[in-house]
Amino acid sequence: MANTKSIHGEWSSRFAYILAATGSAVGLGNIWKFPYITGENGGGAFVIVYLGCVIAIGIPIMIAETMMGRRGRQSPINTLKTLATEANVNKNWKYLGWMGVIAGILILSYYSVIAGWATAYVVKAFFGGFSADATVIKTVFDDLIASPVQLVFWHTLFMIATMSVVMRGVRGGLERAVQLLMPSLFAILILLVGYAMTTGEYYFQGLSFLFSPDFSEIDSDAVLTAMGHAFFTLGLGMGAIMVYGSYLPSHVSIAKTSLYIAGADTVVALLAGIAIFPLVFANGLEPGSGPGLIFQTLPIAFGNMTGGWLFGVLFFVLLVFAALTSSISLIEPVVAWLVENRGLSRVKASVLSGVVTWALGVSVALSFNVWSDFTFFDKTIFDCLDYLTANLMLPIGGFAIAVFAGWFMQQKHVQEELEMPDGQYMVWLFLVCYVAPAAVFLVFLHVLGIF
Ligand code: PFF
Repeated sequence: MANTKSIHGEWSSRFAYILAATGSAVGLGNIWKFPYITGENGGGAFVIVYLGCVIAIGIPIMIAETMMGRRGRQSPINTLKTLATEANVNKNWKYLGWMGVIAGILILSYYSVIAGWATAYVVKAFFGGFSADATVIKTVFDDLIASPVQLVFWHTLFMIATMSVVMRGVRGGLERAVQLLMPSLFAILILLVGYAMTTGEYYFQGLSFLFSPDFSEIDSDAVLTAMGHAFFTLGLGMGAIMVYGSYLPSHVSIAKTSLYIAGADTVVALLAGIAIFPLVFANGLEPGSGPGLIFQTLPIAFGNMTGGWLFGVLFFVLLVFAALTSSISLIEPVVAWLVENRGLSRVKASVLSGVVTWALGVSVALSFNVWSDFTFFDKTIFDCLDYLTANLMLPIGGFAIAVFAGWFMQQKHVQEELEMPDGQYMVWLFLVCYVAPAAVFLVFLHVLGIF
């Protein structure tokens, strides 16, 4: 029989878990990354591939990963060790946990820099730095990116905030932070969509960009990006949802909660797209202008609308919090492991992992300015880390998780955790055994030019 509780604690309720896991899923990926990669990859067709990946690959793997976490009840590395022992298979599966831990640190190192931009924008919004003029807004953004000191400063601040939440542990830290923030973020996004509607024809141009597919815009790289983003946005493939699952009380339905979480995540991303693209077109901006997209569009809306000052401040505050509830899940796997295996206190474990991640993040911050010429295959340090983690490590991790849950775990144990009706269970098993691994594999072959 599996453990019934983690040594790190447990969520206080099913609702608390849904909030925390939604907090992990909803973040910069939805509001910052989804719009700009959709813009770079031509819109509608990319969105369809991404939605297909969420449904056919993301949701089944989310169920598998959460189930493994709850069964193992430890950090992903130790959970995999325990589950491999239980299933009587090679202990090297624990390296899947290691890959996840490393991916989490790498992601957080650049995630925190971008969250730092959002933090800087809270202050800019507060001091009335936004205007209705797109060129002014662009200069504000360019000036921020060009300053290593500012980027490192905001990144440092964000890392301190992340680690101070993580230090407080499962209930005190992680759970509290999300309860108010998620609903407020949702409300303000609806407001922004309302504003986008006032742009008239541009609103429809935005909608058509997002939802009318033109498959000639899609190449194998775009498909890889869409698939990688499905993993990134749901927070899959690196043990984040596994470690959250390890704090999940028994008998909470993993399948149902996963559907809620994936649903909420998708809705937030689509709302962000609907809010942003009309502004892009209304102001003659380029949809493919890259990571600065939301920072160059939304401030125009705030500069224009009545009450824009208040909404601008609120929006960026909420974006920072959405980032925070994701960043804590990125670092939780390594913190839990340091506590379990190195006997560190939670506080020490948080400081240690935080400092390492911070140092890496400094090089990311510099890659936007002084080190921008320092490239590898034409990619800056930021681009490399993003590509390596979102497009490679997370899909590979997700693939291995699907294979482990579908082919290596004893189905009796899986069923014991999932408690799904037979029909639904068979559908999930089919997706996790065949569809998800095959899809990831085919996308990789396609990118390598083999098929
Ligand atoms: N899902 C988060 C976002 O969309 O911003 C980022 C993230 C969290 C990625 C947790 C990976 C992860 F394990």
